[in-house]
Amino acid sequence: MTQEFETTRGRIDGDQVHFGQVFPLSVICASRDAELSAACDWVGRQRDELVRLSSEHGAILFRGFPLQSDRDFDQFVDAFGLTNFPYEESLSNAVRINRTERVFTANEAPSDVRILLHHEMAQTPVYPSRLFFFCEQPAESGGETPLCRSDVLLDRLRDRSPEFARMCEERGLTYSNVMPATADAASGMGRSWKCTFRADNRPVAEERMRSLGYSWDWLDDGSLRATTPVLPAVKTLPSGRQAFFNQLIAAAGGWKDARNDPSKAITFGDGTPLDADDVAVAVEVADDLTFDLAWQQGDVALVDNLVTMHGRRPFTGTRKVLASLVAMDDDPA
Ligand code: FE2
Repeated sequence: MTQEFETTRGRIDGDQVHFGQVFPLSVICASRDAELSAACDWVGRQRDELVRLSSEHGAILFRGFPLQSDRDFDQFVDAFGLTNFPYEESLSNAVRINRTERVFTANEAPSDVRILLHHEMAQTPVYPSRLFFFCEQPAESGGETPLCRSDVLLDRLRDRSPEFARMCEERGLTYSNVMPATADAASGMGRSWKCTFRADNRPVAEERMRSLGYSWDWLDDGSLRATTPVLPAVKTLPSGRQAFFNQLIAAAGGWKDARNDPSKAITFGDGTPLDADDVAVAVEVADDLTFDLAWQQGDVALVDNLVTMHGRRPFTGTRKVLASLVAMDDDPA
């Protein structure tokens, strides 16, 4: 028998309204002592609607749902019936640890590292359509997940800096980063080239890079500088709106560790450098538009990766936020 499961749509502190829609949309569990199986049945019934709403609103926060553990989160995500985007197959720079087949730690970077706004893997040709986040344990302080609507950002950037917005759109962007030979957990982008390209040796890595259109240099210390093909900086969404779908803010400001210098991390697609003042305008507009999701234990967020950027605020204490990614090819929206 299907257990009753009730939800309401609420508002939370600091949420925003864009194009008449609340960002993020909050869906609150209204059933007392609800069981996970009932929540998952409800998800299964609402799945198409929820996926559609996550695109319209940019993100949905599920609050008060009966999730405690990584396994609960795995079940909840599974109830959506969407295809998993496995971390091992991604070209992500981040070091992560899998908890279940589809659930992993969001980023193993140290707590004082601020992770700047980005679209997941927009600096690679292969990226997920959506992301789920789950708060297993909120930080003692800080640790919010900033969320920013890139379609609104592009509109504002076109007003503030039309020439820069036009250059981004016409020229595209190229990203370059240095990957260590073995994982560097002290860096937010410390994934090794062996892991990134699923290669035990250089010829296999080179073959994979060639098939993806990358260029590369091997460095003396065994690390690899990999440069992407020209990737678009602006994407037209299924809604018809356009979004600033790229990794400009994170790459220009945050791709910094023992191996990487942010000033070399990103150029226009024709190889010309970005103007630091233009980048600063994009950062300022994004900061203005950012909503900070202050996590409560059990929260789940479903984020449309094409519409909304995310990041991570520094924190104190232990913060356990897990993530799960949805593959592009299975997206019903
Ligand atoms: Fe991310």
